[in-house]
Amino acid sequence: MSGGGTPGGRRLGEALVRWFEEHKRALPWRQNRDPYRVWVAEVMLQQTRVDTVAPRYVSFLRRFPSVEALAAAGEDEVLKEWEGLGYYSRARNLRLAAREIVNRYGGRFPDSPEELRRLPGIGRYTAAAVASIAFNRPAAAVDGNVLRVMARLHGIDEPVTRAPVQRRIERLTEALIPPGRAADFTEALMELGALVCTPGQPDCGRCPWRDACTAYLEGRTGELPVRPQRTAPRVVHGAVAVVTANGDGARAGRRVLVVRRPAGGLLAGMWEFPWVETAPDASEAECEAILTRTLRDRYGLDVVVDGGLPAVRHVFSHLEWRLQVFAARVRPGAEAPAGRRELAAQGRAAGEDGDLVWAAPEELDGLAFGRAHRRIADTWRKRRPAP
Ligand code: ADE
Repeated sequence: MSGGGTPGGRRLGEALVRWFEEHKRALPWRQNRDPYRVWVAEVMLQQTRVDTVAPRYVSFLRRFPSVEALAAAGEDEVLKEWEGLGYYSRARNLRLAAREIVNRYGGRFPDSPEELRRLPGIGRYTAAAVASIAFNRPAAAVDGNVLRVMARLHGIDEPVTRAPVQRRIERLTEALIPPGRAADFTEALMELGALVCTPGQPDCGRCPWRDACTAYLEGRTGELPVRPQRTAPRVVHGAVAVVTANGDGARAGRRVLVVRRPAGGLLAGMWEFPWVETAPDASEAECEAILTRTLRDRYGLDVVVDGGLPAVRHVFSHLEWRLQVFAARVRPGAEAPAGRRELAAQGRAAGEDGDLVWAAPEELDGLAFGRAHRRIADTWRKRRPAP
């Protein structure tokens, strides 16, 4: 097909923009092109489906209506608002970048992809998406959808996961941007990938690029794009304890022990029930024994295990958790370790990995959990015998 910066390429871009004007969906982030709104949407949409994002985007903007509001928020608040969306470093970086935009740029977004990319969490895709959609800069925002559309259009049969192939697709995409229409073009290309040039069965009959599309003309839409097989996620087995307290005051009987994950790595800074990795074939008795020992070693906590709760499984991108869950309580007469509130009352700070809270059941909603531990919390609360 006609490529590069030729008028033919531009014509394709113009045809796409015309198609978009007619077919675009009304989505909450399309009300206007305010850079803050565009940026939040693009970050949320990166690993998450449009249907899931739409209501959460509305709620996020209600909670943090401006870059200043987000910059002023605490990490806990932002993580809580992000709960359930996964890939939580997106939320942490969003807040860090907001602080930088306020402190370094006086609250005005930089408008070039190069400068946007200096901000935390903003990579090539997000920088180009914000620069083009919010500032109409002719930058090519290449995500998974765009890789698919462009690999089909140009019949690219090298794996689109390779960086040099992605760079080439960026250049090919840039060459299609009609002058002065970068914002519409970027959104249009994403919309084409979402509505027409879909992964499974593309709807080529409705495609404005059909007559120029190599994959269509050669009957290869099912083969393109080429992606190497994903390796199966590594499975981690574990045993989780939902430990209820036995003391009074801040460690009273219906409170439950939750701990904060370290500040780096998977689910950084999120809350969870204490747990320990186990052998894949560990029996229930072995799980109970290793949990009891771990709670003693880590927290100086002596518990009695009362029985099992439903197991949970959770699949991350490269990792799968298979967790056996146990209800336990502080052994009668034993001392429970102090949580952050009691330490704070004594003027002492909770340590990075010793950060624990004895939370009342209703307080669990206010803490940011990953999905697996949120499910454990919900199940436990439903089963908890009435006081
Ligand atoms: N996926 C990524 N960005 C998008 C957008 N702005 N609209 C719809 N889907 C998208």
